[in-house]
Parts: sequence; structure tokens; C-alpha cells
Amino acid sequence: MERLQKYIAEAGYTSRRKAEELIKKGKVQVNGKIVTELGTKVTGKEEIIVDGNLLTKEEKEYYLLNKPRGVITTTTDDKNRKTVVDLINTTKRIYPIGRLDYDTTGVLLLTNDGDFSNILMHPNEKIEKVYVAKLKGIIKGEEINKLKNGVVIDGKKCEKCKVKLRRVDTKNNTSYVSIIIHEGRNHQVKKMFKAVGFEVLKLKRERVGIFTLSGLNSGEYRKLSPKEISIIYSLKDGD
Ligand code: URA
Repeated sequence: MERLQKYIAEAGYTSRRKAEELIKKGKVQVNGKIVTELGTKVTGKEEIIVDGNLLTKEEKEYYLLNKPRGVITTTTDDKNRKTVVDLINTTKRIYPIGRLDYDTTGVLLLTNDGDFSNILMHPNEKIEKVYVAKLKGIIKGEEINKLKNGVVIDGKKCEKCKVKLRRVDTKNNTSYVSIIIHEGRNHQVKKMFKAVGFEVLKLKRERVGIFTLSGLNSGEYRKLSPKEISIIYSLKDGD
């Protein structure tokens, strides 16, 4: 049994908040009866009509995209810029799980499955996110240690994390550093490097949990396998 507003949202009809509004306005019928009670539970076997439309549960889809630079991580953009959803050939109302900046590349998952998305976004799950940053300047051990111990950004200390210097390019005065974090704060990696005095010139997310860029060129994507989906669901079962 599921709450009616959650069911409507997960069918891909609208957001949960909008579904609540429709229920309160008397626009939702369950088996021919108008329901205005938000707590109403449904099994999915009922005939549900939302604003005159018969609800059919949308099949779930799961994608892994190698996000290119210059694409926005939203479903729509008021400035008409290309979105990550535009890159995927589907009729389903998928959305990105989390966010990568316009100029950040790499692993991005998309789905229309709210439960799946919640597991990956939930801070308790401690999903590792691996980034590689190209920095302006040559970073030293001292700054790397500060990052490892957790720097303060926006007035809040970041969790301890793993940081590794991959290589320095003295000729071009740049450093390549990998960093593994669990949190997903806004512009977190760029702000962490800024906190120790470095500008990020390029940022790529190489891995999120079990998902890597293996076999995917920039802009390419693939569907997740049933095994991969069940691995993520099994994280929730372990609570
Ligand atoms: N941290 C950032 O600063 N930007 C991203 O896109 C992802 C993590």
C-alpha cells in the first residue's frame, strides 16, 4: 500500500507536492469516488483518475550518462540550454539523481524511480563519489592534508575524505588531484579546493558507488542492468 500522492508522483504524472494539491482540490478519483484525504492508501490495482486522466504506472528506467561539459543538470531550462535529459532517448519523465555543474563532466545517473533516487541521495548510505580535479597551481602535501581532514565551506566543516595527488604538470603549472567524498553539497569540490587556495580548472566525476565511466565516451549513456539496480536496492534493505 502506498500513499495516493506518492503513487501519483511515482507514476510520473506530476510532483508529489502538485499531486497533494490536486487531491485537496478534489481532482482525484479512486474507483469512481473523489478522494480529498491526503493519507489515503492505494495498492495500485484501483482505477485512479487525475484531473480527468486515467493513471497508468510508468515503467521504471535507469540510465548512466557520461555527462559532457556545457549541459545543464535539470529536466528543463528557462534559458533553453541543453539539459542532461535531452541527451537521453526516452519517452519517460526521467530526472537526474543529484547534480553536476554545467562545466563538470562524468558519471551522472538518471531515472524516474523515486525510491532508487532516494537511496543514492540519502546521506546515510555513504555512497562514494570520486572526482578528478585539474587545479591551477601546484598543490602541496600540507594543503592535501587539510582537505583530508575536512575543510570548512559555507560555515560548515566537510567530512574527512580521501585525497590523492595524481600528477603535477610543472610546465603548465597545474595539478591533478583525485578526491573521494560522500556528501553532495552545492559545488562542494570546487569550494573545498578554493578553501585551500586553488581554482578548479576542470572537474570530472569518475565514479559514483559501483558506477564508473567504463565503456562510455563523453555524451554516451547506457541503461543500468537489473543486477546494478538490485545492488542499490539492497543498500536500503541493509538499514
Ligand atoms: N562539486 C562541484 O564543485 N561541482 C560539481 O559539479 C560536483 C561536485
